[in-house]
Amino acid sequence: MFDFDSFYHDDIKTATGHWKGFPEYNFIGGHNDASMVPVDALRASADRVMTEHGQRLATYNLGDGPLGLRSLREFIGGALAVRADMPTDPDNILLVSGSLQALDLVNETLLRSGDIVIMEESTYGGVISRFQHLDVDIIGIRVGAAGMDLAHLEEQLEALKAQGKRARYIYTIPTIHNPTGTIMPTENRQRLLALASRYNVPIFEDDCYADLIFDEARPPTIRSLDDSGRVIYCGSFSKTVAPALRVGYLIADWPFLSRATSYKTDAGSGALEQLILADFCPKSFDTHVEKLNKHLQTKCDVICEALDKNFGTTAQYHRPKGGIFIWVTLDKSIDILKLTDEAAKQGVAINAGPEWSLGAEAAYQMRLCFGYPEEAEIKQGVAKLAEICQHHFGLPKQISNK
Ligand SMILES: Cc1ncc(COP(=O)(O)O)c(C=O)c1O
Repeated sequence: MFDFDSFYHDDIKTATGHWKGFPEYNFIGGHNDASMVPVDALRASADRVMTEHGQRLATYNLGDGPLGLRSLREFIGGALAVRADMPTDPDNILLVSGSLQALDLVNETLLRSGDIVIMEESTYGGVISRFQHLDVDIIGIRVGAAGMDLAHLEEQLEALKAQGKRARYIYTIPTIHNPTGTIMPTENRQRLLALASRYNVPIFEDDCYADLIFDEARPPTIRSLDDSGRVIYCGSFSKTVAPALRVGYLIADWPFLSRATSYKTDAGSGALEQLILADFCPKSFDTHVEKLNKHLQTKCDVICEALDKNFGTTAQYHRPKGGIFIWVTLDKSIDILKLTDEAAKQGVAINAGPEWSLGAEAAYQMRLCFGYPEEAEIKQGVAKLAEICQHHFGLPKQISNK
């Protein structure tokens, strides 16, 4: 076999292993509930759009230009007006291959090695790994029940200013923060904007969970509260409809969006998915999301009960306000990396804190996705995790259903 080793550069990534299928109890990643994919409605949409628009597939971007399918952009702009107080011109929306591509485009546009970025100290692992790969300096801001700690942010912005430095942008997930499940209140959004304005920094608002709030009203987006154009925004259909579709969107005022669009050199994101969503969403998005949220809320209750029952005081958490994840702080004596390894050997997959957080507490924190596993799997998987934890660390001392 040809040996590529001498052709690789020193910074080559480690090879991807062969896919071995999902573990029995899968609490990792951001997958959604298979039973909630609106299969029939999507099938009907697929049928309709192939009949009506199939021949448009002959043209890159369906003939609608580099921003992607106009009718889907129109839906997104209208939905954001109603759901998030953010009417958005379709010409300020770029359709991308999942919001991960939006992250890449923003990074390519704004970041170079050695730059400084600010983010919540616990945040989406895909963002941390991207920043690390780009070799930028990360400043982590503490996260509390109201999201990013703005006093801490102000301290850090002031410290940078004193050193004559500036951050390229502040990345935030203000609505159903990943992993903590918190929501930044409207007045904090206004304070964040005031700070960003005082220290002259752009904000990148990642809002991909914002449609998945259980009980409270969705606050206005940070972007909608701003009139300066400093807020870049992204969203996704991954969490509301299906992650495998790979349809997300990047929103910004044209001076920035036109730059970011230049970095999208893939000749357009999947057109069939865009067509299907453009047909499905105006008819069914609202009712689908309402149903999905009820279902996810029930599963959230199930995982909270399972944690209480099996871990007792060994596991502390704030009940998520929506979404698909719960962020759990275990007893300090529990080495989460070891627990993650031992659990994986026994078919329980969890995300270890350090992948999701730069904070010192990450060493004994974990993120569990309750969106994907079925209710019975949540109960059994959490019980098994508690047993593995007890076996290796002596905690929880007692498991109540034993
Ligand atoms: C905060 C956040 N942003 C972006 C993404 C990427 O999602 P996608 O590329 O599927 O839209 C995720 C996925 O879990 C996420 O949690």
